[in-house]
Amino acid sequence: MELADLTRDLEALRADALAAIGSASDGATLDALGLDILGKKGRLTSVLRGIGGLPAEDRPKVGAAANDVRETIQAALAERGATVRGGELAARLAAETVDVTTPGRPIRRGALHPSMESMREIAAIFEQFGFVTYESPEIEDDRTNFQMLNIPPDHPARDLWDTLYVDVEGRLLRTHTSPGQIRVMQSERPPIRALLPGRCFRYEAIDASHASEFFQVEGLMVDEGTTMADLKGLLDQFAKAMYGEDKRTRFRPGYYPFTEPSVAFDIECLVCGGVGCPACGRTGWMTILGAGMVHPVVLQYGGLDPERYQGFAFGMGPERIKMLKHGITDLRLFLENDLRFLEQFR
Ligand code: PHE
Repeated sequence: MELADLTRDLEALRADALAAIGSASDGATLDALGLDILGKKGRLTSVLRGIGGLPAEDRPKVGAAANDVRETIQAALAERGATVRGGELAARLAAETVDVTTPGRPIRRGALHPSMESMREIAAIFEQFGFVTYESPEIEDDRTNFQMLNIPPDHPARDLWDTLYVDVEGRLLRTHTSPGQIRVMQSERPPIRALLPGRCFRYEAIDASHASEFFQVEGLMVDEGTTMADLKGLLDQFAKAMYGEDKRTRFRPGYYPFTEPSVAFDIECLVCGGVGCPACGRTGWMTILGAGMVHPVVLQYGGLDPERYQGFAFGMGPERIKMLKHGITDLRLFLENDLRFLEQFR
């Protein structure tokens, strides 16, 4: 082996390698080239194998030439690598670009059903007067739904509540939230300020103002020295908070077996302001709830001494409260789950 041959082979390797590197278009190809040319079992190593056959004085020359070839190739690999890898990164960045100006996908947000919303609005007002919310069962017994509320089995007042019965003797679907009064009185000591929202059921012919399923919010206050004036003042404050500070209210005689005296609580017509119009039946007033002083018999059933304690109770329909507020004329809308109606309450 001659020095000239070896030098020629080295130059050929350099030229060949630089051409291959120059045309490599991705990092993986460059890595393979690097290994193939400069690796332990690579082409440079095999060219240098011929060094052993050279005269001793020629060997350093070949060594120097080989180092030069190695450095040029390394530099070329590095340079080409930077180029193709930079291109790869740029291509990836371009492909994976996020257009931050694209409008986001809206997250569909749920909303409270208007019946629920109404009950929360009512509770929020009474909470300010210290009322606490309680739950009471939807499946009641005849005693609590009627008898302990001063409605004996054959009392004609039962006709006021068309009842749905359950397949268990003495059980029924509560026709109102008033049995909750008994349950609260039996479990709490006065002073009592209870709010009892919940679903009620009646065997009704369904029309624009009657449903077989609806909600009520019951209120009960029991303490020493509670009077009808407290009831009137509280309900007046409630009506003003719900419908506006300027709204006038009135009590009208009413009848419920479990309150004595009983009243209907009216607010001036929200449409005509009290003048009289078709919306209020030309009376100028709209009834928003029923109320009264808790009957002494009911206090006794609740385990309280009527000589010592007095109380008042009221019951309202949250759907009706909302209907008056928004001029809704058909109660059935609250049960049909038509989104065109429900979405107006966001
Ligand atoms: N429970 C009565 C009803 O359904 C409403 C009411 C509650 C009246 C409390 C007076 C006191 O119709």
